[in-house]
Amino acid sequence: MTEKEKRIPGNPKKVGILVGWEDTFPGAFIKRVNEKGDGKVVAEMAKVHAPKMGEHPGYDVLVDRISHEIEIYKPYLKNAVVNGSYVINDPFWWISDDKFFDNSMIERLGVAVPKTVVLPPVQANPSTRPESHRNLMLTQWKEIFDYIKFPAFLKPYDGGGWKNVYKVNSPEEFFHYYHQTGRLIMVLQEFIDFDLYIRCITVGKDNIMPIKYDPKNRCYVVDHNFMSAELGAKVVRDARVINHALGYDMNSVEFAVRDGIPYAIDFMNPAPDMDYWSITPHYFEWVVEAMSDFVIKVANEDRKMAEHYPWAKMMKGLMTPVPDVTTEELQAATAKAKATKPAEKAEAKEPALAGKASGGKKTNGKKK
Ligand SMILES: Nc1ncnc2c1ncn2[C@@H]1O[C@H](COP(=O)(O)OP(=O)(O)O)[C@@H](O)[C@H]1O
Ligand SMILES: [Mg+2]
Repeated sequence: MTEKEKRIPGNPKKVGILVGWEDTFPGAFIKRVNEKGDGKVVAEMAKVHAPKMGEHPGYDVLVDRISHEIEIYKPYLKNAVVNGSYVINDPFWWISDDKFFDNSMIERLGVAVPKTVVLPPVQANPSTRPESHRNLMLTQWKEIFDYIKFPAFLKPYDGGGWKNVYKVNSPEEFFHYYHQTGRLIMVLQEFIDFDLYIRCITVGKDNIMPIKYDPKNRCYVVDHNFMSAELGAKVVRDARVINHALGYDMNSVEFAVRDGIPYAIDFMNPAPDMDYWSITPHYFEWVVEAMSDFVIKVANEDRKMAEHYPWAKMMKGLMTPVPDVTTEELQAATAKAKATKPAEKAEAKEPALAGKASGGKKTNGKKK
């Protein structure tokens, strides 16, 4: 469908969903949108053809559940935004997001988070050389361990699905697992010894469903009376702050509660688990309904996204125009270029740290 076709008055708004091998949520979601969309909003499995520049993908709203595994969807979705689609979740932010930044940022917005440090990878990128790492100081392990303390959690800074997540009880255990992490960027995090674990499924930033979660057995528990009203209000408020700060319309926000304080543990889940067999039939029904209502609302409102990005503002003519190049400017730049004398030697004075980081070897930064 071209942009022109989509704009034909009376044509229903179209919703497309991008999925991996999950097989319960997508069908139920498509069915519900088609039931509730009243002929004005229709949903289907998105059909992704090779995206062309400037081409509208034919979907007013795209629900992305899998671009973290199918990389071609990333440029496809970004192109869709540029050409007018609303994408859940924002493909620009999802790519940039990481758990270390998230903790650092969200603490400043008043949400409790465990102390966290980010660690250099064990293995270097093979296309680098020792001197490529000259800015990286040797990690001060004692300082890190004194700050985080044991037990602690070692996990990837952008992970998901409990992959490469280790609970470590001592420096020895830490190094044992850390040395298996290859080129991953890991964080070491304070262990929150919780008496309650809560997972919130969140839709459209403000619609929050806190669910009791049993991390030991890795299962959701249907219980409508598992926390006080006060704690519930705090958790919902914190989850809203997180979603508004990160811009996620679909997320799962996890809290470990210690001494009555909810600590946000994992809130970078832009394609949260929505499987019938995992979240239980009860919460599955809730999320199918919430996601369908939200997406229908977004489609009917013709909601736009990413309008804060400079390129989006430029496209709408909302930025001060880029200044034209004047003849005087051109002449001055040419004169300056001509007057510039070549440097005498390529070897620059190196900062003291360079020699140390590259094992005492002096380098001039040139390729050999
Ligand atoms: N700092 C922590 N304190 C206590 N438990 C944690 C901590 N970090 C992780 N966990 C436990 O490990 C699980 C997986 O870690 P998480 O950060 O959610 O990684 P993933 O993104 O892979 O799901 C959590 O659900 C929680 O049970
Ligand atoms: Mg998690």
